[in-house]
Amino acid sequence: MTAQPLSGTHHSTANGWFAVASILFISWTLVGCQPPKPADATPKQYDIIDVKDANKGVGTYTVPQNTAIMSEPNAKQILYGQRLLNETKRLLPDNTGANMNCNSCHIANGKVPLGDPYINSFNTYPTYKARAGKEVNLKERINGCFKRSMNGKPLKPDSQEMAAMIAYMQWLSKTVPHTQTVNIKNAGKIDKNLEPDPVRGEKIYQAQCASCHGANGEGKKDQLGIIAFPPLWGDESFNIGAGMARTYTAAAFVKYNMPMGIQTEGLWGHGGVLSDQDAVDVAQFFSHQPRPDFPDKVNDWPKGDKPKDARY
Ligand code: HEC
Ligand code: HEC
Repeated sequence: MTAQPLSGTHHSTANGWFAVASILFISWTLVGCQPPKPADATPKQYDIIDVKDANKGVGTYTVPQNTAIMSEPNAKQILYGQRLLNETKRLLPDNTGANMNCNSCHIANGKVPLGDPYINSFNTYPTYKARAGKEVNLKERINGCFKRSMNGKPLKPDSQEMAAMIAYMQWLSKTVPHTQTVNIKNAGKIDKNLEPDPVRGEKIYQAQCASCHGANGEGKKDQLGIIAFPPLWGDESFNIGAGMARTYTAAAFVKYNMPMGIQTEGLWGHGGVLSDQDAVDVAQFFSHQPRPDFPDKVNDWPKGDKPKDARY
């Protein structure tokens, strides 16, 4: 007797949900929303342009597949370089102070525009850098990331590890002549006039980031102690000399690459989940949490041109 009305209620609730779902489905079809597209495995292509004349298209660049490395004469060296960039902490513990790999920031083997790609690195350097106040070559640029982003020690410029990392970057751009460049941006645009609100940023952090990067920014390791999600602050993170310690550099990265895993295009993504203001707020919050100092900071921007979000 008692079971009857209960199951009846349950039944009508289920019908109710079915009706709501149908209406939602019909209106969703009518307004033309598309379900998320599956990840696209087709290699991405971008224009190659002349360095001196950005309007002059000179060809098409196809992001190379890893399997293509095997047909290179120095395949072993390139693969070693790729492993070093992916597993830096494990393979180069003496040079890596942070619990971080190069590719914790250089997303998907440095192959993704707006995710700090290495695609143009081999052709870009040497180039003038305001932070150094002089021309910097690729080895010095890599060692800059070792000292700052990895809170570690530079590699010997003539070491086989340095040569291997550069071999990987050279392979990435091997179809691009030195006087030309792939028409992509290393970092996305962010409105630098927005005032950061770190209190709002902390709320965004706890809602959108903490599940992977930890409630205290400490990141997460797997059962072997290897980084699964890299730390965003604390002793194991990048130091204050890193680009990522600056609000707008961090915001530009976060806006186009984080939170990771809810993108509908490509392997990793550019969900555009956060607005510029969200990205600036959360970036201000995590970048200004306690992190290691950078003793060499006194030598930065010797000729001025300090960006507005510089930390010192
Ligand atoms: C915490 C994030 C982070 C980590 C870890 C990191 N980098 Fe970077 N790297 C950046 C950012 C951000 C830039 C560019 C912006 C800047 O300099 O402020 C950059 C720039 C570079 C560039 C220049 C790219 C170009 O084309 O101009 C190279 C090369 C590079 N990094 C290599 C490395 C290597 C090798 C490692 C590991 C030893 C590494 N990075 C670790 C964040 C990081
Ligand atoms: C689903 C898990 C996930 C979420 C959620 C997530 N991230 Fe990440 N994040 C990652 C992974 C994984 C990496 C390293 C990239 C890699 O290994 O390919 C990373 C790297 C980073 C890095 C560069 C490396 C470092 O440790 O400094 C920053 C900065 C970052 N995330 C910020 C954020 C912010 C801010 C949010 C929230 C808006 C967020 N992430 C949400 C997984 C996540």
